[in-house]
Amino acid sequence: MSNYHIKHLEEYFQVYRRSVRNPENFWEEIAEEHFLWRKKWNNVLEWDFSKPEVKWFSGAQLNITENCIDRHLHVRGNKTAILFEPNNPDEAAEHISYLELHKRVSKFANVLKDKGIKKGDRVVIYLPMIPELAISLLACARIGAVHSVVFAGFSASALATRIQDCEAKMVITSDGSYRGAKTIDLKGIVDEALEDCPTVEKVLVAKRIHSDIKLKENRDEWLQPLLDEAYGDCVPEIVDSEDPLFILYTSGSTGKPKGMMHTTGGYMVYSAYSFKNVFQYREEDVYWCTADIGWITGHSYIVYGPLANGATTVMFEGVPSYPDYGRFWEIVQKHKVTQFYTAPTAIRALAKENIDFVTKYDLSSLKVLGTVGEPINEEAWHWYNDHVGEKNCPIVDTWWQTETGGIMISPIPFSTPTKPTYATLPLPGIQPALMDENGKEIKGNQVDGRLCIKYPWPSMARTIWGNHQRYKDTYFSAFENMYFTGDGALRDEVGYYRITGRVDDVIIVSGHNLGTAPIEDAINEHPAVAESAIVGFPHDIKGNALYGFVILKETGESRDRNNLRNEINQQISDKIGPIAKLNKIQFVTGLPKTRSGKIMRRILRKIASNDLSNLGDTSTLLNPEVVDQIIKEKL
Ligand code: WTA
Repeated sequence: MSNYHIKHLEEYFQVYRRSVRNPENFWEEIAEEHFLWRKKWNNVLEWDFSKPEVKWFSGAQLNITENCIDRHLHVRGNKTAILFEPNNPDEAAEHISYLELHKRVSKFANVLKDKGIKKGDRVVIYLPMIPELAISLLACARIGAVHSVVFAGFSASALATRIQDCEAKMVITSDGSYRGAKTIDLKGIVDEALEDCPTVEKVLVAKRIHSDIKLKENRDEWLQPLLDEAYGDCVPEIVDSEDPLFILYTSGSTGKPKGMMHTTGGYMVYSAYSFKNVFQYREEDVYWCTADIGWITGHSYIVYGPLANGATTVMFEGVPSYPDYGRFWEIVQKHKVTQFYTAPTAIRALAKENIDFVTKYDLSSLKVLGTVGEPINEEAWHWYNDHVGEKNCPIVDTWWQTETGGIMISPIPFSTPTKPTYATLPLPGIQPALMDENGKEIKGNQVDGRLCIKYPWPSMARTIWGNHQRYKDTYFSAFENMYFTGDGALRDEVGYYRITGRVDDVIIVSGHNLGTAPIEDAINEHPAVAESAIVGFPHDIKGNALYGFVILKETGESRDRNNLRNEINQQISDKIGPIAKLNKIQFVTGLPKTRSGKIMRRILRKIASNDLSNLGDTSTLLNPEVVDQIIKEKL
């Protein structure tokens, strides 16, 4: 018997040791006993980090939707698979059973096929958090098409970049979306994006806000009539374990976004296994992850991980502040949520509001609380523990990445004693290492360094779509034979890990990864701007906020500064999305640069954070005088 479900600390250590001593054996047992394969693998694992090449369960064949849906039908067909809670609390929640999900996914899959989508084709999904979003992912997987979900807060230009990069044949969207009291014209954004996307042949449009939109002839169609007519069963396309399941874009420190490509078999095994253990999921539970399916957290822990375990997974369309700051807790009470998984930025925002918004509701159904996306500060951790968990629910601070596909370091609730701000211990099969700047592993405890992973795990991304060299350069070149995460971490006296933050030019704002380069590019396109540099600085709700240092062209010098600030932010909003807007913009006459012309962000970061005590040696700069001037004129 495999140890699919860990129940106490001693068992964790045993399982962990076994998983590291013989990873192939460990994962093979789990894969064999808990999943449905149409053909068994030839090899559990083949790998070579120098290429890099990683294959899990190669030669095996399966369809992930058979694992997430079909195999549950005879045991829990009438159980709720997806529990949809709409933006407006007066609109009824929708309980979609496994049987119904089977039918809806099948119909959707048949529509895709009918519209010419075949195995391997890319489908971009740009939808709000409505059931069609989860269903469209599964429909793609049903027929072996590769989905690429783009978060519906991204701008037309960001959407276009992603569609072009993966050469999508189809886009699935809706007429619009609700976000609290606002509506957003998603179809208008898609239309704008598609002006530059010649590969897209078809657009399917779900009706959500009933706005008056235009359908482009021969390209756009309403989804619902097609679904109504489609056949309610669809034979799953059997794919290879290493066939791509999805592409999901994440920001890099430079250049265009990286299309992380995940494959099928290993991703399924790991997302399911980690879900079961990190949330200690049991059959009668109601699990809720508040992330958007546009991010990896939604892929692995709203859709695939929970459904592979036959869970009930809540999908919430709205925002935590609508109609008031009690919405999350109202939903927990209403659906008797047992596991609740959210981001530190949401916790910080809610902790600022009146505590009555929390205490008014009965939260006694909760058993496990989780956080993800950025380091959680001690204050937020305690607020979450005291007021939401009422000191009764272990908090799982889960560290992982789009690239890792699943949770890597996290307590196992009721087993691992938690410690505020610590992600604690690696999950079975995960072998972290801390590295120093010279490429040597730092052994022992009470040390810190750059966080790497020494050995493959089943859900790791296999490549960057269309750019394997970049995959190698970004993740496998900093340290020999290691996957480099881009994060720094420390290991305390008992071996617990604490993630200290990014060590590259990625800034995490409200849990969203933002690369500095694309934002600077957007700013520099403003006609009055000569050059710019952005850095993160601490912000009490967002975790980090963005501070921009901008040099104007001579022509811009006479312009009103506040108008310019608004225009620059509008430019960022148009190119990337409102999440990338700058909190502060300081106009400067120069940027501190090294003699080779590289901007010294370290100095700018300190200035932006008001940490002027230790700026380091500035005398080697090309232009040391600008540092004083920037400090003098700081906002
Ligand atoms: C950060 C989100 C501290 C980290 C699943 C990582 C965290 C990046 C944590 C990935 C955590 C994620 N504590 N930092 N528990 N979880 N991060 O790709 O810097 O959106 O590299 O994946 O978020 O963000 P991504």
